[in-house]
Amino acid sequence: MIIEVESEIAMKMFGTKMGVLLAGGEIIELVGDVGAGKTTLTKGIAMGLQVEETVQSPSFTISRVYETPNDLRMVHYDFYRLHDAGIMADELRETVQDPAAITIIEWAGIVEGVLPADRLTVTITAPTETDRRIELTAGGEMGEKLLGQLA
Ligand SMILES: Nc1ncnc2c1ncn2[C@@H]1O[C@H](COP(=O)(O)OP(=O)(O)O)[C@@H](O)[C@H]1O
Ligand SMILES: [Mg+2]
Repeated sequence: MIIEVESEIAMKMFGTKMGVLLAGGEIIELVGDVGAGKTTLTKGIAMGLQVEETVQSPSFTISRVYETPNDLRMVHYDFYRLHDAGIMADELRETVQDPAAITIIEWAGIVEGVLPADRLTVTITAPTETDRRIELTAGGEMGEKLLGQLA
């Protein structure tokens, strides 16, 4: 499934649309260059989940956790700066198994082995300064269900 957005706001709105569909247990991998809009999309997802806290890029902290009013938590990882995931890999392994957690990962390369095949992979490319092409692929049932709901 491919979506095209033409502004940062449209990206957030698409994220919000995704966020309202999430019920916990979903794993979303975000792929794209620096500045593609991975964190911007995550901000939209947080809006859809009714997260009140301001979402900040986890590039320095590696992970950030946000509570939702529906007793879910959105756990946002960014492994860009890490060469070895170390204990973060163990933390991630637990998070992806938590049915109340929505796991969102930027730069998942080094934790590839920890991620379940059944995840939604969102690949963002930037043909221009403000246009973004979002490609969504499902690795299993959970991802397929989300794609179906988004279509
Ligand atoms: N359509 C768009 N969607 C998302 N971000 C956009 C868009 N157009 C411009 N931008 C800008 O691109 C940058 C994306 O940054 P960010 O979301 O942090 O990227 P990433 O997390 O992929 O490195 C922001 O500065 C944002 O304002
Ligand atoms: Mg980012």
